[in-house]
Amino acid sequence: MNNRKVAIIGCGYVGAATAFSIMQRGLFSEMVLLDVDRKKAEGEAMDIMHGMPFAMPIHIHAGDYDDIADSAIIIVTAGCNQKPEESRLDLVHKNIEIYRQIMGEIAARKVEGILLVVSNPVDILTYAAWKFSGLPRHRVMGSGTVLDTARLKCMLGNELGVDARSVHAFIIGEHGDSELAVFSSANVSGIDLKDFYDMCQPDEYHEDTERIYDQVKDSAYKIIESKKATYFGVAMAVRRICECIMRNEHSILTVSGVVEGQYGASDMALSLPAIVGSQGLEQIIQIELDEKEEEQLQESIRVLGNVLDECM
Ligand code: 2OP
Repeated sequence: MNNRKVAIIGCGYVGAATAFSIMQRGLFSEMVLLDVDRKKAEGEAMDIMHGMPFAMPIHIHAGDYDDIADSAIIIVTAGCNQKPEESRLDLVHKNIEIYRQIMGEIAARKVEGILLVVSNPVDILTYAAWKFSGLPRHRVMGSGTVLDTARLKCMLGNELGVDARSVHAFIIGEHGDSELAVFSSANVSGIDLKDFYDMCQPDEYHEDTERIYDQVKDSAYKIIESKKATYFGVAMAVRRICECIMRNEHSILTVSGVVEGQYGASDMALSLPAIVGSQGLEQIIQIELDEKEEEQLQESIRVLGNVLDECM
């Protein structure tokens, strides 16, 4: 395996934005772009490569499955995108078939790296990628609710007038309509979120948290309505996941992973806080939930389970 090589399968908006974001970070020395439309991959590689004097040396090129097999991380963004009015789950049948084909190619090669699923519905496709590729559980993960968690931190930070990085809160469950916000353990630099509200914006906690949770859930719909697709936010989330893997950070991110009984769920992938490092998804952290959150999570598990029963 080449420890400094990354591959991106799918060069649509998300794939191209991800390539652009990752390239600027200097994490890798080689990047392979693969798309069903080879010319598109070549064009994106060329466009990004020309910015190299402003970034760090990296060999970026278009390639095929033989070229990506020795990558440390293989990012999959291929698949159909959500259209206005469509939910992420509406994409499932088309994208499962695309994944069956891509994972068949991966399974046919000796892949030792980590598979990072980004296409939607990401939790379903993370499970499908694990099943179809035959890779060990810890080497398959999805971008999950890393972006939704960032949206939550960003909105709470804006509301409270603090740096989003000082806000600690998670969105978990399905990356989609049934996701939930874990406010019971949310905090601002160690101060319970409710107490922080009491200090600076008394009486607004309940209204704000409900509104912000709805806004987080609706973010993708709003962005798709106004510009047809979302890609910069997710590209930065994917870059963050790659950083954790490449630098063996052991940061806790809400990636999607194949669960082994956590919260009573099994035989599916779900977005939960997990330790991410050079081995991939190293450990899922089962955080405490209050009664309402537990119910919401069980509903999310039911939704994902029903979709999996229907499509796999
Ligand atoms: C997003 O949340 C559509 O999943 C994509 O931006």
